[in-house]
Amino acid sequence: MVKKIAVLTSGGDAPGMNACVRAVIRAGLQQGLDTFVVYEGYKGLVEGKIEQVDRNFVSDIINRGGTILKSARLREFKDEKVRAIAVEQLKKRGIDGLICIGGDGTYLGAKKLTEMGINTVGLPGTIDNDIASTDYSIGFDTCLNTIVDCVDKIRDTTASHQRCTFIEVMGNHCGDLALFSGIAEGVEMIITPDHPIPEDEIMETLKRLKQGKKKHSLVIVSEKVFPDIHEFAKKVTRETGVEARAEVLGHLQRGGSPSAFDRILATRLGVEAVELLLAGESGICVGQVRNKIVHYDIYEALELPRNKHIALLNIIDLVNK
Ligand code: F6P
Repeated sequence: MVKKIAVLTSGGDAPGMNACVRAVIRAGLQQGLDTFVVYEGYKGLVEGKIEQVDRNFVSDIINRGGTILKSARLREFKDEKVRAIAVEQLKKRGIDGLICIGGDGTYLGAKKLTEMGINTVGLPGTIDNDIASTDYSIGFDTCLNTIVDCVDKIRDTTASHQRCTFIEVMGNHCGDLALFSGIAEGVEMIITPDHPIPEDEIMETLKRLKQGKKKHSLVIVSEKVFPDIHEFAKKVTRETGVEARAEVLGHLQRGGSPSAFDRILATRLGVEAVELLLAGESGICVGQVRNKIVHYDIYEALELPRNKHIALLNIIDLVNK
């Protein structure tokens, strides 16, 4: 049975990661385990940035954004020789369980460590919501609410100047942040990888809207759909006569105090990860599906088709046009 566990955060930070770290440490200590943290994700693991911590280490962090453990992306972790150094860092301290909070790259790293003799559990910490084995990833809800706050403000100035504003949101290749915020804002167009709109249709829609009573419009676009959203806005202005602007919300979307939803989700998943390690499980990831805690083999989870939220896609044309 595991006796010493460690936790790390890896990849893009997400609000709620700290709440999750707190849950892991608190639940681990309650179960009589020695608890460690790894700083700077897999990079810090390789470099031996590992520290034993007590319950006070995680006091007053449940409400804090970012990750107090810091995060990093380490491409070299794909190399088995690099992972062997990480395994050695854990083994020489007697750490036999590792909880990895992050996205799909983090999951893959965890699974590879399992194959090298370390018990691991992956937890979904990313604003993108692109982990299919959970309805929501830690950080998505907070990020969504941050976007909604921003769009509320952009709406005021867009309406005052009777413009069209294209708002580009994060999500990597996943359109959930754009889709959910677009529905929450009732914007004129939502453009995501799962809901693309051809360029000529965008132009026609804006020309039509210009003829109507309402002279301003908001369009939410997933990042990576347009190579340069500012250039695209200029093109729209040239071709439609509608004054178009673009706003890239950028990293402000990843910041801020986690929502109550994210804190609770993070806490549930963190506690479950400790329980699973104690039960002798390894190479698995935990999620919440229909309010129930579930777990999958990591490879299986990475192969699952992502929820495309058909129910939401289906109502766009009914309420946003
Ligand atoms: O995965 C989280 C995320 O914020 C994505 O939405 C975005 O594409 C990416 O990370 C940005 O990464 P970085 O902060 O390393 O530029």
